[in-house]
Order: sequence, then structure tokens, then C-alpha cells
Amino acid sequence: NTVESGKVTWESPSNIALIKYWGKKKDQIPENPSISFTLNHCKTITTVTFSKKENISDFEFDVFLDGEKKDDFKPKIETFFKRVEVYLPFLKAYKFKIETKNTFPHSSGIASSASGMSALALCLMSIEKQLLSDVTLSAVERSLSDNYFNQKASFLARLGSGSACRSIEGDLIVWGENEVVDGSSDLFGVKYPYKVHDNFKDYQDTILLVDKGEKQVSSTVGHNLMHNHPYAKNRFQQAHNHLEKLKPILESGDLDAFIALIESEALTLHAMMMTSMPYFILMKPNTLEIINKIWMFRQKTGLHISFTLDAGANVHVLYPKNESVKILEFIKNELVAYCQNGHYICDQIGFGAKQL
Ligand code: PMV
Repeated sequence: NTVESGKVTWESPSNIALIKYWGKKKDQIPENPSISFTLNHCKTITTVTFSKKENISDFEFDVFLDGEKKDDFKPKIETFFKRVEVYLPFLKAYKFKIETKNTFPHSSGIASSASGMSALALCLMSIEKQLLSDVTLSAVERSLSDNYFNQKASFLARLGSGSACRSIEGDLIVWGENEVVDGSSDLFGVKYPYKVHDNFKDYQDTILLVDKGEKQVSSTVGHNLMHNHPYAKNRFQQAHNHLEKLKPILESGDLDAFIALIESEALTLHAMMMTSMPYFILMKPNTLEIINKIWMFRQKTGLHISFTLDAGANVHVLYPKNESVKILEFIKNELVAYCQNGHYICDQIGFGAKQL
């Protein structure tokens, strides 16, 4: 290849699953379909500088977080490079400097794997595009190429971290082959293709940082807990059923039904962890305090406040934009007290990654 060196930058958001991915097969294939809101504010910004090596040799790269060299990030990226090498044959011909930063604090307990791996996958896709730029494309190929770019970026991101494949685009992304969503795939995320009611436009996600420590259970360990799990089969089937139920809810804007479904999903995720062997409780006392307060406030006011959880103690408070004045006031007055050092992040639905 004639390209000697170059530099690309992408910002890519985090996402929050409404129907949870929990359990995977070989090669990062999910056991069940999932659907998520892409976030807007919680992002990773990654710059990859690349230069041609004299000879093709083993992977050569350095990683920096906030300008600081991070050798402890290298094994994860090395694993990623190994997995994607067959799809990106240039990886051994160039050396890379990967500089990354997050818009949210590193030690916030918010996983940066979805935003981080999707940003890196997108940078590698842009490099591939530059290296192939001297290849003449037909008009048809050119019109297909945007879709090809996003699809392959999502495919690669999945091989870095499963849920990362849902961060390339927005605002609602489905991953995992299923009967409900046409075009869905185990290999990459797709945009939810059906009608979505305005109630879900600008949906808000206020993330309450209950525990900012390192994750107690890595997601790799977590997914593996679903092997030989006594309830696995039913859980995987339930995710399909939930997706089928969600479709008319998204269309009609039935917020009560939406809340019942996503809160059940969050608690089921944690129930799976509590009933696996070994078992884990990832919620903290303050997680439960917050959930109870949300339920009481909803009962009292009829406002559509709800929660979802990741594989940790933090709480994502979800609510429609047009109720945000009263709900945010409640969050500040009643819920922030349960956050570590009073920390929380206001986010909302976003529309995917951007090249900078
Ligand atoms: O992408 P992973 O392997 O870190 O798994 C993420 C799993 C959950 O966040 C708990 C659920 C999901 O669908 O995002």
C-alpha cells in the first residue's frame, strides 16, 4: 500500500440496554436479542495515528488515556486485534498510537468498553477506508459503502465488547437475530426500523453513581455465568418475548407498559447473577433505596420515572423529556443523597458516533 502514515479521530457514545444482553456463545455471539438507547453525553474520543512499518511483524501499538501511557490496557486491545486481524489485514503492516479520553470520569463505575471499543473500531474502519481510497468504486458500491462502513464497524466493535456494536448509530439499536426485527443479526447492531412514538424522543437518562469502584464482576465472567445456569433457557426466551412486546409499546407510546418491561429486564439481569453459581449481588443498599424512592414518587405523582441497571450498582433513571422539570427536581432533592460523593450524570438519547 502507498499510504505511509495518517491520523483519524472518532467520538463514540455509550449505550444503555432496555432489553439486556446477558450470555454469549463463541465469537461474541449473543444468546439473546437486546435493544438499547444510544447515549449522547457519555462518550469516548479516540485518535489513532498510524505509520507504515519496514516489515510486517507482530502488532505494534501504544495506548494513552488522558495523555498517560496505559500499558494495562494493552492485553485487551491485543486480544481485540487478534480477533479482527482477518477482517483488517493491514493491522500488522502499520504501527499505531491510540490516544483516548472519556467525557465521563474513568472511575465512575460506568463501563467505557462500549464507547471505547466502538470508537477504536471506527478509527480502524477509517484507516481501512484511507488505505483503500485508491481503489476505484462503482456508483453502486459507493452508495452501499456508508452502510458497509457502519455495519462493519459494528461487527468489529462487537468483537471488542459485545454491547459496543450498539454504539455506532442511534437512537434505538437492536442486536441479536430475532423474529421481531427484520434484518436483525447476531453479528452487528441495526437501527430499530419501526415507528417510534414521540414519547420516546429525547428520552432522558440521569445516571446515579452509587458505586464508582471497579466492577466486582467483569462482563466476561458475567456472561459465562449463563452457561449451565438453571434459568438460562427461560431467560433467553423471555428476551425474545420482551422484544415482541416492546414493538407495539414503542409504536403507541404506552409509557406504563414501557416502564413495566424495562424495570423487569433490569431486575431479571440481577436475578440471573443472584441465581448463578458462583452468585453475586451487584446492587448496593443505596441502589435499593433509590429504586424504592422512584417507585414511591411514581405512585404519588403519576409521573413516568423509571430505572434500569447495568451489571453494577449504579442506577440509570429514565424518563420522558416533557416531565423532566419535576423529575429532575425530585432526583436532586431525594436521590442524589444516595450517590457516592453526590455524583450523577445527566444524559439523554443520542444519535451515534461522529468522525472529528
Ligand atoms: O458488552 P459487555 O460484554 O460488557 O456486556 C454488557 C452487558 C450489560 O451491560 C449488562 C447488558 C447490555 O446489554 O448492555
